[in-house]
This record gives sequence, C-alpha cells and structure tokens, in this order.
Amino acid sequence: MNTQNVSRRKFLKDASAGTVAAVAMSAYGKAAAKGDALAVLGGSPVRTAPFPAWPPVTAEIEQSLVAALRSGKWGRTLQGPMQGTGLVVEFEKRFAELIGAAHCLATGSCTQSLHTALHAVGVGAGDEVLVAPCTFIASIQAVLMCGALPVFVDVDLDTFQMDPGKIEPLVNGNTRAVEPVHIGGLPCSMEKIMAVAKKHGLKVVEDAAQAHLAEFQGKKCGTFGDLGCFSFQSSKVLACAEGGAIVGNDGALLEQCYAFHNLGLSAKGGSAAIGTKYRMHELEAAVLLPQLATIARQTQTRNDNAAYLARRLGEIPGIVPQKLHEGATKAAYYIYGFRYQKEHFNDSPKQKFLKALRGEKIPFTTMYFDELNKQPFLEHTLNSPTFRKIFSQERLKRYREENLCPSNDQLSAEGVWLPQYVFLGNTKDMDDIADAVAKIHDQKDQLARL
Ligand SMILES: Cc1ncc(COP(=O)(O)O)c(C=O)c1O
Repeated sequence: MNTQNVSRRKFLKDASAGTVAAVAMSAYGKAAAKGDALAVLGGSPVRTAPFPAWPPVTAEIEQSLVAALRSGKWGRTLQGPMQGTGLVVEFEKRFAELIGAAHCLATGSCTQSLHTALHAVGVGAGDEVLVAPCTFIASIQAVLMCGALPVFVDVDLDTFQMDPGKIEPLVNGNTRAVEPVHIGGLPCSMEKIMAVAKKHGLKVVEDAAQAHLAEFQGKKCGTFGDLGCFSFQSSKVLACAEGGAIVGNDGALLEQCYAFHNLGLSAKGGSAAIGTKYRMHELEAAVLLPQLATIARQTQTRNDNAAYLARRLGEIPGIVPQKLHEGATKAAYYIYGFRYQKEHFNDSPKQKFLKALRGEKIPFTTMYFDELNKQPFLEHTLNSPTFRKIFSQERLKRYREENLCPSNDQLSAEGVWLPQYVFLGNTKDMDDIADAVAKIHDQKDQLARL
C-alpha cells in the first residue's frame, strides 16, 4: 500500500473534519463552565500558561551566529546562485533542496524577492498582475514598484485564498502575470491557477512568504510558477531578522534575478542590466541554517494540531474554520484562520469577540483583513506623477470602477487568525483555544457589556 497516499487521505480527512463535526455535534466547549464570567469582565482566563516562544533562540542558532560574527565575513561572496562559498551560498543550496527547486537566490526580504521576481519575468510599466486582496501589503507594493497595476481577484470564503474561478474573467491584453499568495501558508488551488496561466500565456510568481513546506498534490508551494518567493522575517516559520528567497527551475531566470538583486552585476562578473542591492548577508544565513534541521518536524506538529483544532472549533456555532483547497496535502499554518459569525453571538461585533478572546489570553491577529484593495496607498500611487505618465485617466477610471471584492469585504469583517507558534505545542494548547472560544459563545450575553 502507498503510505504517502494513506497519510494524504488521513490529512484531508482530519483537516475537513471540522465541517462535519459542525453538523453532527452540538456539545461544545466541554471545559467552559456555564456561569463563568468572561476574563475581560473579571473572570479567570481560560489560558494561564504562555504559548511556545517565537522566534526560536537555540544553542545551535547562537553558536552559528557567533561563529559567523567572529569570522569577520559578514557579506555574501559575490558569486552566483549555486556557486562560491559562504553561509548564504550554503543556505541557497540547502533551501533549494528542501523546497524541491533547482535553484535558490537568497535576498534581504520577501518584498525584495517579489520585486526581483516580477521584474525578472518581465512585469513592467503598463502591465497588470492578478493578485488577491487578502495578503500583506508587500504583495501589492511589489507590483506597483514595477509600474504595473495590481488587479484584485476576489477570495473564496471557504479557503480565504484567491478564488480560482474568478481569475479568467479578469485577464485582458495587459495581463502579464498571476501572483498567487498562499495566505496563512495554506496552498492556493495551484492546478486551476496554472491551467488559466498556461491558457493565456501568463507568468506566475508565487508569493510563498508564509508557505514554507506547504504542499499541493504533494509538490511544494513556490515550485509551481516561474518563480516562488519566501520570507524569513522574524515571525515566519523559518526566521531570521529579515530575509527572503526566490526559488525556480530556470537557471537563466535565476541569473536575471541575481543581477537585479546585485546592482545589475551578473553572477559571472559582468555588467548586465538595471539592478538594486537586495542581498542577504552571512549573519542572516547563520541564523537560518540550523533551523533547516527542525522545520519539517515543526510543520508536521502544526498540521496535526491545526487538524485537531479545526474539529474542536467546528463544533462551536458561529465559528467557521478555514478549509484547505481540495488537492492541498500539507499547510505551513503560518497563521490559521476562522470566520466569526456575529449572528451566533447575539449580534456582537467582531471587535467585542476579540476583546473577550484577548481577555482569555489567546493570541490572535486580524492582519491581512485590511481590505487592501481599498487602502489609501493604492489611490495615492494611482495619482502619482509616474502612474499618471504610464496609465491614461480613462484606464485608471475603469480600474477603480472594477476594483470590487465583495467576498474579501465579508472575510475582512469576519476573519480572525491565530499565529503559528500556538500550534507548536500539544493538544492541551488546542483545547485551551477551543475552550476559550466556546466560553465566549456560552457567555455571549456578556459581550454586550464590553
Ligand atoms: C504574504 C506576504 N507576502 C510578502 C511578505 C513580505 O515579506 P518580508 O517581510 O520578508 O518582506 C509577507 C511578510 O509578512 C507576507 O506575509
């Protein structure tokens, strides 16, 4: 029997169990005693112990960093990807192997990686790039930095990812690329996205900033498109202070990325083209390298805990856990999302629920639920002298009129994320999270007093 298939089936079964449980079970929050006051109103918080700390500080990381400091070689050796010596070059080689890509170029951040990758695949002034609005601002800024328009593809409310069915109607003669963002580290529907891209000759740059070791149909996120971009910023599941990487299988494309990130100077030493300085340094690689030994185990722990939590949260009326796309075989769970439906909580707004959750000492974030397609930075950029030179007023007017993402608006109103480090612990930690949410549901009358 194929054990890989068995574990994939088990994973999908576990991950979707929350939905089934929501229908089949009505008993929830077994640990939440009726009559408990919400902690924010003077009751005892459900959670008392701290969750695992992040970013990690281990003896191995400390030793690696000190050795790099003492070496006196703080900058990367200036040879191309897969050549030369030094910690950055070693990290590139090992990260490429881990992700299953032929090449890797390390950079100073994922923002830099995205800018470099979009430039390398040919995104330039006047182009359009398809991207979901439920993301970090960097995914959008990288497009604008190329002089291109981010065209927003609405999300799907089940998975919180770019809705693959809404991509094709947005493709026109100016569309150059799709930028799927694996938000939360849960894989986008890559089979469908790649099919649309192939049909229309679009380049694909994956924003895998949050998706280290996530897999779709057994293949790692970041390896489906022309290029995939990762972040190693401190909160990420593979972390240094700042840092990023681009992976891909096309050596010539990676050489272009190298030149762009190295002031236009090619890996072979010559002057190549326009470029900037986006290099990773040795101290960042020194912090990252020891973590390559632990990331696979941590990813499995997050998946196991997330599947368990999905089952528990799915039992609570008005809590809708984020689902994996069909075909997703592993997630990074950089964050884990659920939707809060206020009609099941006496119509209390999300802010009150969050206040109560904070009181119960459960960490959360609502980042990426900012309706990025409506943020002022976008309008300011459209009105900038550069953009007014590139785009006609008529085109910008049409762009503004068509910039509508109703599902993302709903998701932004309802969504809540839990950070990845809470999934590094055990089942008891998951029970505390679910018990806290169940307690708030049990005591929903008290939300009116917040
Ligand atoms: C989805 C997404 N894209 C891009 C980035 C940018 O990464 P960095 O902070 O490394 O520039 C982030 C960082 O949080 C992100 O979450």
